[in-house]
Amino acid sequence: MYLAPAMETILIKVDAIKPQKKLIKKAAALILKGEVVAFPTETVYGLGAMGMDASCASKIYEAKGRPSDNPLILHISDLQQIHTLANGIPLEALLLADAFWPGPLTLVLVKKAQVPNSTTGGLDTVAVRMPDHPVALALIEAVGEPLAAPSANTSGRPSPTAASHVMHDLEGKIAAILDGGSTSVGIESTVVDFAHGFPTILRKGGITKKQLQSVLPNIEDAAVDHAHHSPGTRYKHYSPSARLTILPLDGAPLLNLLRKELNAGNKIGWIGPGCPDPDNMIWKYLPNEAEAYAKAFFGLLRELDDLKVDHIVVEPIEEEGLGEAVMDRMRKAAGV
Ligand code: TXA
Ligand code: MG
Repeated sequence: MYLAPAMETILIKVDAIKPQKKLIKKAAALILKGEVVAFPTETVYGLGAMGMDASCASKIYEAKGRPSDNPLILHISDLQQIHTLANGIPLEALLLADAFWPGPLTLVLVKKAQVPNSTTGGLDTVAVRMPDHPVALALIEAVGEPLAAPSANTSGRPSPTAASHVMHDLEGKIAAILDGGSTSVGIESTVVDFAHGFPTILRKGGITKKQLQSVLPNIEDAAVDHAHHSPGTRYKHYSPSARLTILPLDGAPLLNLLRKELNAGNKIGWIGPGCPDPDNMIWKYLPNEAEAYAKAFFGLLRELDDLKVDHIVVEPIEEEGLGEAVMDRMRKAAGV
């Protein structure tokens, strides 16, 4: 049987603040040739290809192993590009764009016919975001059209916050990775739906509800029966290979169980401010702050997986501000 050789994935180290033009051009040339290239954004690394070309978007789904009905976000570098993607954009959406772009906010709008169905997973809506990262903005500009980009992880794995995470998941499957160091926010953008009546939050993320309400006081979380407008919420997400448990209010029964697991020779990982048994567990310290959790959480899940732990325990944080998005990801990683 003939096996096609795996593609070589080249790592292009680039200055995150002043990206070298030559390196951006090299990555853009690959994308313009129809290849898939990973790049840093302020939230997580994205897996970019030409979003207005159906076959390029399909390559993204293939590399990630992503279900084809889960739509992609189109990334723009200039506000004017939004008008090439969406029809009948409500004033409120433009107000949010004005307040938070570039930044971790994605707007779901009624799509224009020219946006391929394979990019939007067959939906008649399109998700648009302007990322706040010099490398991402330079790359979109060099390509000259919107980049479709989901998070650059294998489907179901924690989102990548460093180039090494992308390499781990996608080496041999994509043409290149632009390495701009660690991402600053660490969890994905907030997704707001403007295509189904009054605006609702489909996915919590880097812009908090309070920030959104400072511009649009009536914005609310989507009701559960509205969440089907975001197919991504249906799929298993952010999962480490190890079992993950969120420390309950009364931790005593869990601590008893962990003692038994340790006695049986299992490896336990602990994420949070206060590990009860740092001599016997692998402790990844985090201060009790939402920003620190957001920035480090996905990377720590990957680190503990690499250490082959059997069970990860995470201390929860207050569900307030950015803590809402952190707890959402934590629950999804725990499968609860
Ligand atoms: O921060 C982010 O948003 C990162 C960076 C790379 O920009 N991207 C990201 O993409 O997280 P992805 O594909 O992993 O998650 C996009 C989410 C999914 O839950 C998807 O279902 C939803 O946005 N989405 C995309 N297009 C949509 C649409 N037309 N309607 C509703 N939801 C949509
Ligand atoms: Mg994702």
